[in-house]
Amino acid sequence: MIETQDPKGMSREKRLKSALLFTKAQLKNETDTLANLANISAVINMYMDDINWVGFYLMRSGELILGPFQGKPACNRIEIGSGVCGTSVKEGKTQLVDDVLSLDNHIACDSASRSELVVPIYRNGEIFGVLDIDSPSLARFTELEKQYMEELVALLQESL
Ligand code: SME
Repeated sequence: MIETQDPKGMSREKRLKSALLFTKAQLKNETDTLANLANISAVINMYMDDINWVGFYLMRSGELILGPFQGKPACNRIEIGSGVCGTSVKEGKTQLVDDVLSLDNHIACDSASRSELVVPIYRNGEIFGVLDIDSPSLARFTELEKQYMEELVALLQESL
């Protein structure tokens, strides 16, 4: 097992750095994608404060299917173009949503969610899935979280 540090007392940036370091170590130690996605979702959940859901949706036969995650049970399937996750796939870019209730097509898996960050994941130039993070607070995610999570996804992509 890779050691983790207690995030208590750490700044948000230090927490994000720690999640990134763990991810690097995880991907170096393990080649199995399922194990990697499971541990990466666990480490983001451990290091990011004020979140209520984090996990992966993976492309299967043209739609997104629920993958490893931490949080309440969630929607099993998301159509491309639907919700924040499906929009991220359709547009091929990160979605940073300050207030999910302001969107027409947000999919509320956990009614507590207020803001959301979704980063698309690619393998060999094709969409592989998304990393999805929800917070119960409005505008929880900033450019800082976007930058670190895009870096984390870039590392993950190298392993796919
Ligand atoms: N809110 C997402 C659906 C997935 S849950 O947040 C876990 C969306 O709108 O795509």
